Amino acid sequence: MKLKAAAVFATILGLSAIRPIAAAEVHQTLAPATSPASGHQMYMAYCASCHGKEGKGDGPVAAALKTPPADLATLSARNGGKFPELRVTSAIKGDPALPAHGSAEMPVWGTVFQKMSQGNAGQVQMRIANLVAYVRSIQAK
Ligand code: HEC
Repeated sequence: MKLKAAAVFATILGLSAIRPIAAAEVHQTLAPATSPASGHQMYMAYCASCHGKEGKGDGPVAAALKTPPADLATLSARNGGKFPELRVTSAIKGDPALPAHGSAEMPVWGTVFQKMSQGNAGQVQMRIANLVAYVRSIQAK
């Protein structure tokens, strides 16, 4: 178990790309504590590994995935100039009942945050709202 986590961690750091990794596994074992009030901090801790520091879909883990992580900086541009808030919210929250965009590689953050916040629904909502606001803030002009 420890070894496995270490391998995953090495992959995240971009030190090696030993094997394809299960996204949910990464985030349930390694999601570090962050402030629910900081969208930026949460983004860097939970999203940048796949989506890249600037949201361009070029994080160090991206190469290990079958589905390329979405370019989060062009969401508005690809949606007629309007930020697709609902779509982003549900992509982050995830709906375990729906086969979201036919891919299981985007982690179901709703579940991860629920565990992290020990079921505190208000705090889970705050995390998601601040992440959505952060993703909105990195839209290419
Ligand atoms: C393990 C890699 C990984 C991590 C970590 C990850 N994502 Fe994703 N994400 C993906 C992949 C892959 C897709 C594309 C899914 C698809 O198209 O089926 C995606 C899709 C998305 C989408 C949908 C974009 C669209 O066009 O509708 C949003 C929004 C998103 N991610 C936001 C986030 C946020 C915010 C975080 C951090 C809380 C995050 N992702 C963390 C892999 C990841």
